[in-house]
Amino acid sequence: MIPQSFIDDLLARADIVSVIDRYVPLKKTGINYSACCPFHQEKTPSFSVSPAKQFYHCFGCGANGNALGFVMEYQGLGFVDAVKQLAADYGMTVPDVRSDQAVQVQATISPLIAVLEQASQFYRTRLKTASVAIDYLKQRGLTGEIAARFGLGFAPDDWQGLGHAFPDYETRQDLSQAGLVIDNDQGRRYDRFRDRVMFPIHNLKGQIIGFGGRVIGKGEPKYLNSPETPVFEKGRELYGLYQARQAIRQAGKVMIVEGYMDVVALAQYGVNYAVATLGTSTTSDHLQKLFKHSEHLVFCFDGDNAGRKAAWRALENALPLLTDALTLEFLFLPEGEDPDTLVRQIGHEAFEAKVSHEALPLSRFMLQEVAARVDLQKGRPEDKARFWHEIKPLLNQIAAPTLRNVMWTEARNFAGLMKPKQDKVFERKSGDWKRRNEPPPMPRQEPKGLEDRLLAYLLLRPVFAASKANDLARLRQGMLENAGLQRVLEFLQSSPRLKELDTKSVLQGMPALAEGWRQWLGQSWISALEPASEEAETEFTDICLQLEKQGQIRMGGSQLQDIERKVNASGFASLTEEERASYKQLILEKHKR
Ligand code: UTP
Ligand code: MN
Repeated sequence: MIPQSFIDDLLARADIVSVIDRYVPLKKTGINYSACCPFHQEKTPSFSVSPAKQFYHCFGCGANGNALGFVMEYQGLGFVDAVKQLAADYGMTVPDVRSDQAVQVQATISPLIAVLEQASQFYRTRLKTASVAIDYLKQRGLTGEIAARFGLGFAPDDWQGLGHAFPDYETRQDLSQAGLVIDNDQGRRYDRFRDRVMFPIHNLKGQIIGFGGRVIGKGEPKYLNSPETPVFEKGRELYGLYQARQAIRQAGKVMIVEGYMDVVALAQYGVNYAVATLGTSTTSDHLQKLFKHSEHLVFCFDGDNAGRKAAWRALENALPLLTDALTLEFLFLPEGEDPDTLVRQIGHEAFEAKVSHEALPLSRFMLQEVAARVDLQKGRPEDKARFWHEIKPLLNQIAAPTLRNVMWTEARNFAGLMKPKQDKVFERKSGDWKRRNEPPPMPRQEPKGLEDRLLAYLLLRPVFAASKANDLARLRQGMLENAGLQRVLEFLQSSPRLKELDTKSVLQGMPALAEGWRQWLGQSWISALEPASEEAETEFTDICLQLEKQGQIRMGGSQLQDIERKVNASGFASLTEEERASYKQLILEKHKR
């Protein structure tokens, strides 16, 4: 569409050194220029720009290209958009077949951008003296620094507040074209945004193209957004993408959240790679735009119905766009919480830990969601058939060939292998056997997890238990997997003459289990133990220590679940001071393993 001659002219005019220098300050080194590479993380410069060849090259990551290539890569633009932007920077008009139209659009766009910029300036200035707005933002935990970084402002409680910024307020057409004012039926004009905290929305060039305005405190609507204008299309724009570009590249991923506040709060806590849709679901346009910036997308939504629905919409739109190089993940937060409240509660590190360990890959999320609509637990053929009926069209939509194949197999296994009550296996806790009134399961025949070894020592040398009474009591609370071990500990701890016990007396004391254990003790690895030796006592102590550590983690797990259950039910506000303090710690510990 764009004639090659124009591109040649453009490249001749747009000197690569000055093009790149605008984004990445260059230093002259010999005949070339250099800098730290913007396309990967590094401390010493290996990014080199040659004015002679009009070419850049990074010796670190291999990125290379001409001025246009740089603009495409750096700004995440397609070829045509990059040509247009570079041309605009050099005052050239791109002559395409629709050039007349392009010029016209350009003519309406630039003034609108200027108007929006001027309005934003006004809102920013007003925020400085609006103590109610400042207090509100402070109360929500925002720092002045972050408010400035996102250009937050305040639209005063005034029907014609913008009149202070635009002297010819009553007559200017561009104010209504930019969506800043509303002309009513009586021909009166008034400000769209009043008494609201203003979030400017930028395009990828950093120009302001619209606003979101939040009421201070409670009120309806909570957020008011700019209407669609020649420069602002909700279904294409992403809040925060302009600010996040560099961080996305550095992190190698981009996070998609639901709200303005989420983007801002995450950035304040050092998670700088988050963007938000503007109250719409994630469209194909959004996805295509994001894929230009990163091959790894993490959707971070509320765990409630609305959040899961939003995630599902994103998934549906993503399927036809998938390639095998892309990674899409979904992180669901405790119900009723959003990234803003969560990151403020648990901080950067624990938040990142959650992102890297708890996000579900698209494949899992898809299977889970479809499985949730069908009850596969009963193993009825009809249910399996329905599962297939639902999942097949989705599988067929996956554009990535390998992923589609693998998913096909997985889905089949998923439906086919699902057995009734299978989940019980994972849920079995020690003590369960008591409730079911069955004999405790015998230890496994083959050695020798820590618990088996501990059991062996306790049966061979019960006296070890005397010196470690406290440790063993703690172990029991940490939930042992081996119900037999649990049982022996109970027995030993209730024995008044622990120091006098030997193998025989223990087995006699537990007649129902004795026969099974006698056989178990006959295994060769147990006969090989020398429980009377000094090393044995050391090993025993060591096993206790290790088990206790594991138990703490496991306890942490259940404590964490308790807290998360509480958060789900009634929000962070319902946590006690202690629970608050341990929440973050527990998340970190859980993921350290
Ligand atoms: P949320 O209500 O989750 O926003 O809506 P939030 O950012 O967490 O708001 P706070 O924390 O209460 O300030 C998510 C997004 O949906 C759009 C906005 O883009 C908002 O950020 N939305 C929400 C609207 O456009 N209008 C509304 O009335 C509410
Ligand atoms: Mn919120």
